[in-house]
Amino acid sequence: MNVVRTRAELYSQLGSLRNAGRSLGLVPTMGALHAGHVSLVDASAAACNATVVTIFVNPTQFAPHEDFAKYPRTLERDLELLAGHGCSLVFAPQPSEIYRPGHATYVEMGGPALPLEGKIRPGHFRGVATVVLKLFELVRPDVAFFGQKDYQQCLVIRRLAADFDLPIDVRVCPIVREPDGLAMSSRNAYLSADERRRALVLSRSLQKAAKLANQGERRAAEILSSMREVFATEPEVAVEYIVLADPDSLAEVEQLTGPTVALVAARVGSTRLIDNEILLASTRA
Ligand code: PAJ
Repeated sequence: MNVVRTRAELYSQLGSLRNAGRSLGLVPTMGALHAGHVSLVDASAAACNATVVTIFVNPTQFAPHEDFAKYPRTLERDLELLAGHGCSLVFAPQPSEIYRPGHATYVEMGGPALPLEGKIRPGHFRGVATVVLKLFELVRPDVAFFGQKDYQQCLVIRRLAADFDLPIDVRVCPIVREPDGLAMSSRNAYLSADERRRALVLSRSLQKAAKLANQGERRAAEILSSMREVFATEPEVAVEYIVLADPDSLAEVEQLTGPTVALVAARVGSTRLIDNEILLASTRA
């Protein structure tokens, strides 16, 4: 597994990885890797002949008041975690390598980038779409792997690839959870033991929603009020949104007529967490 920091080194390493007939997989990350990230690397290694992992805490997707400066940077540990997982090359650039002096072009998206995270974090998806487009151009993978954990981000990247005619197969991998249900996230490292326990309310609310849907409840209002009741058991967790939406358009639904995505966002102390689950997934065509 080679580790490179500059685009010149990246290009030179990619030359040998991209021999005729070999497929190249890309797993973009911001580091502080955990089993969720590793599952994407495993999926890529299973599907492609070579896998590139990028580790880059992208400044443009953080608002000035957000956690860019304190975001965990654990490169040595990340590399240890990746060893033995079929990763061929790690690209871990400095911001100046990605955003060169005079950088002036950004991807401004509508559609799936507008609601939910797009509303609460203005400019976030502009930064995500811009850096992902750049990483796609730098690496030129055949397949790119993203986690359902960031459900809206997956829709944004799919839209980006379709709208810019990128010849890249965007694949979405399932959410990896801790044994008690907490969705793995690099930001879980910010939680105190007490907050870590309170954070379980996100996955518990989704489990409740899935249970009701599986039992035949189709009224969104009923499911949403049960989810709110679960959140009410942890009054110190500040809900940002709880929605039931169409899995493709993210339009909120009143009735569950097929697969529906339940999405939640909440603050536990100063840490912002998101989670989601597809309800009635088995009815997906
Ligand atoms: P990051 O938060 O590091 O996540 C990198 C990838 O890992 C994303 O596709 C994310 O959805 C996936 N992932 C995170 N937690 C997961 C879990 N518990 N189970 C499965 N997959 C999980 O998302 C980003 O970085 C950035 O926005 C990025 C796309 C790299 C652009 O900067």
